[in-house]
Amino acid sequence: MQLLDGKWLSETIKQELAAAVEQIRRKGDKIPHLAAVLVGDNPASEVYVNSKIKSCEQVGFKSTLVRRSAEISEAELLDIVYELNNNPDVDGFIVQLPLPKHINEERITLAIDHRKDVDGFHPINFGRMAQGMSAFLPATPFGIVEMLRRYQIETAGKHCVVLGRSTIVGTPMSLLLSRKGYPGDCTVTLTHSRTRNIADEVRRADIVVAAIGKPNFVQADWVKEGAVVIDVGINRIADPTRKSGSRLVGDVDFEAVAPRCSYITPVPGGVGLMTVAALLMNTLKAARKEIYTD
Ligand code: GUN
Repeated sequence: MQLLDGKWLSETIKQELAAAVEQIRRKGDKIPHLAAVLVGDNPASEVYVNSKIKSCEQVGFKSTLVRRSAEISEAELLDIVYELNNNPDVDGFIVQLPLPKHINEERITLAIDHRKDVDGFHPINFGRMAQGMSAFLPATPFGIVEMLRRYQIETAGKHCVVLGRSTIVGTPMSLLLSRKGYPGDCTVTLTHSRTRNIADEVRRADIVVAAIGKPNFVQADWVKEGAVVIDVGINRIADPTRKSGSRLVGDVDFEAVAPRCSYITPVPGGVGLMTVAALLMNTLKAARKEIYTD
């Protein structure tokens, strides 16, 4: 069993990005600039956004954090989106989800200029991705395919079972792995809460991607010997032996499953860090106008 080390790989990618920023600086070109909008005080969102901003600093990107209370109106948040759309210094931005209940996430996502949509959530980017065109890929699936690529994991002809059909992980992941080329050319099964026998589906998988948000859901006897297991879950569970009283676990029962795998991602230290690295890669693409030229 080999660990897919998101900590090491994301640091490697960040070093590459820092080198790219250094070149930009030497040429006197504009430094890439990512903005993040954080609404309310969801503790998990706070951790994620802080990690994104800190990572910008590490690679030398400019970053802006726009913080607003949970009481902000939808119209006020839309105004922030329009301002960022029109700010020529901002290359890309994200609005951290989830948003408070009184704000329509769909309306916010649709308001973001797709050329600055480094989260890849806008339907223009999603549609382009689905059709195999160049697009901003959603950060978590992009981080996962980058991980598969850099560990040179074979995907052609493999059976991949994705757990979870969210629009930001499960659904785009299933599309990316079934696309022509590498990493891709998989036969994909997308499972969800109405799937009849998830365990039997997972038993057929050469590659498992678990993204359902249920702690330790995937059991050892579901996983085929030699499978590749990608754990997207970040679940906080009670642990009285820890000083904090809790710890993070994935959607996979790591201790039991790991010995059966050829490769597995740990939680923490796996996919989560790759998500941040992928967001930075998208921001560099935005600054270089690699996806959209105007
Ligand atoms: N909430 C959970 N994951 C994400 C993400 O990748 N981007 C944003 N904007 N919000 C999220």
